[in-house]
Parts: sequence; C-alpha cells; structure tokens
Amino acid sequence: MLERRSSGLLAEAPHTQLRATDGRLLYEHCITRQGFDGPYTIAYHERRPHEALPAADAPITLPPADRRPERLLRRHYQAPQSPFSLEPFPRHRGRLLENADVAVSLAMPTRSDAAYFANADGDELYFIHSGSGTLRTLLGDVSYRTGDYVYVPRSLLHRFVLDAGAPQHFLVIELRKPLTLPAAYRNSVGQLRMDAPYTHRDFRAPLSAAPREENLRDFWLKTQGTLQKYQLAASPLDVVGWDGSLYPFALSIDAFKPKVGKVHLPPPVHATFEAPGVLICSFVPRLLDFHERAVPCPYPHSSVDVDEVLFYSRGNFTSRRGVGPGSISHHPRGIPHGPHPGAYEASIGSKSTDELAVMLDCTEPLTRSQLAESLEDSDYHGSFVESAGSHSTG
Ligand SMILES: [Fe+2]
Repeated sequence: MLERRSSGLLAEAPHTQLRATDGRLLYEHCITRQGFDGPYTIAYHERRPHEALPAADAPITLPPADRRPERLLRRHYQAPQSPFSLEPFPRHRGRLLENADVAVSLAMPTRSDAAYFANADGDELYFIHSGSGTLRTLLGDVSYRTGDYVYVPRSLLHRFVLDAGAPQHFLVIELRKPLTLPAAYRNSVGQLRMDAPYTHRDFRAPLSAAPREENLRDFWLKTQGTLQKYQLAASPLDVVGWDGSLYPFALSIDAFKPKVGKVHLPPPVHATFEAPGVLICSFVPRLLDFHERAVPCPYPHSSVDVDEVLFYSRGNFTSRRGVGPGSISHHPRGIPHGPHPGAYEASIGSKSTDELAVMLDCTEPLTRSQLAESLEDSDYHGSFVESAGSHSTG
C-alpha cells in the first residue's frame, strides 16, 4: 500500500538462505495479498512462524450489527459516557454499523491486550480519538497518540499496549477489502504526488524489528465474525528483519493538508483512504471559501448513492445540534441532508473552521447493532426541522 521499506537482516535475495550468526537457518515468511498478485512483505523469523494449535477455549461469536431501523431517519449515536464493558469478549470493541464492505466499531480499552490478535476478516483502520500507546506487531512497534490513524493489515499479529493514565477511545473501521490510498494521489511511478494532501514522510512505519522474548503465546483469530483462540509455540516477536510494501503504520490527521476553494468543495476533496465500497475523508481545521458571496456551510444535498457516517473528534460543533466529541452521525441514502436550522445563513462571512472529523461514505446500506441503538439520540432527526425546536446557530 505504501512504498517498500526494510528493517533488520535480509537475505541477499528472496527465497535464499539467511542464517543467524551461529549458522542456524532462519525462516522466511511471505505475507501476501490478492493471492500472490498484490502487495507483499517478506519477514525472517528465528522460528517457524506457522506453529500454533487451537486452545481449549470455545470460539466466541461476536454480536453482529444486523438490525434494520424501522424508518429511514438521520441518526446520531452519542459517545459512551465511560468505557463500556463487553465481557466476556477478549477485545473490548463494540460494533455499531455494518455492511458487506465495512464494520464501524468503538473501542475504549482500559487495559493492554492480554493476547495477540489477527483479523482475518479484513484490514483495520483505527482513528485515535484519545489515548496513546504502542501497537506491537510481528513487524515491530508503532507508537500512536491522539489524532492518529493506525493501520493494521489483515491477519497481522498485533496487540495494543496502552500508556498508563491515558483514556483510550478509538473509532475502529474494519475493511473487508484492501485499504489503499486514493490512486489520484500517486504519480506514474507510484510516488505520492507533490499535490497530495500528505507525503511519504508522514507515514510512521514500525521501528526496526529485533527479536524479543515476551511470555505471551495466546492469540485470537477473528474470522467470519467469530473469535477463535490459538496458542503459539513461541513468542511471535522473533522477526530479525523484513522488507516489503505491506506493514502497519500511523498517520496523524494533523499531517493531512486540506484543499481550500473559492467556493465550497465537495467531501471527496478530503479523501484520505479508500477501499472498495468505502471512502474515508478527514475534515481538518482549514480556511473557508474565499468567493465574496460564498456560502461556506455545506449545502443541503441528496447524495442518494451513499450512507454517510461522521465521527466528530474535536473542535467547535455548534453547527450540529447535540453533537459533541465522540459523537457519530449516520445519514442514510435516499433522503436529503444538510445543516441544522440557522447554520447555513450564519456561516456567511466565516473565514475558517476548526472542526476535526472523520467521514465515511459507504456505497452499501448500513445496518446497526443493539449497542448503537442504546447510544441513539432519538431527537436528532427532528432537530433538522426548523419548527421542531429551538434554533441552533453557528
Ligand atoms: Fe453529506
């Protein structure tokens, strides 16, 4: 997905011998996508990487987000007031919205993962609404902090090691097909173009791989909506080196350099990542439109082909009634949406916005979970009707 990077010891050529200083043969591990036709990474292990046996624990079926709302309404899901418990699930993330291409979840972990995880159902993209720590992976550590996107490729063994004292609140986006950067940001040799909203330097790859011993052998494999537990024969942190284009990374949303227009630019100008059926955009603080008669506020629109999901992270949300940090709105296809009463008019003359949000445009309709229903602000749809309540400005 990104340019080739390398770390640590490598064989002179793929599929040739690499030996430790004591002469032991090391084990090549080819991590490939699209069969053997897509991006790949080759890692070298001290031990055979495929030695794992099923643990005695029974597989756990994760609750699906398969509930269809009775009516087509604009929805607002409020941020949980405190970390929610999902016992007995070993990973505390709650699925909210889902379709065949993407699952949107929340995670508010209060302790580091006690086991490794590998998600065979898709790539994972986290947005760190708050918190900091380390993503520990087979290919090395990636540190993360508030405002980062964190990418974990499908099936890569990993776990989150939390910094002490930092409340953690993540938006978790699981993509069933590969996540990529928008093709329009690449030049003919695959480099990020000079007018792309980020540069190669903004992507933080794992720190150099070096074998470490951890007394952790358990890992949970997520596959087809179940968690299945295995035990590894040895620590997975035995990689001496790797190279390739498939690796986890962190990208700060603050590194995203927004485009600004004379008049309002549509959301895809803020595209940050994409996957089949999903476009992920970053709305970051920026100057607003500079036409002398511009209306900077987004126009009411009938974007009839997509379900739009917005995660509000920080900044001033006065143009969205009832929405605060950590809120998620879901505006489904088929009905128009737009600003709250008063916001369109009040935006005239505004020079800048400090809102920071992550948006998903999803081409298939989303269903929702019981958890989402429990977080719903039932007044939200009606809040767009001028006569239904007090006027919001901003
Ligand atoms: Fe929209």
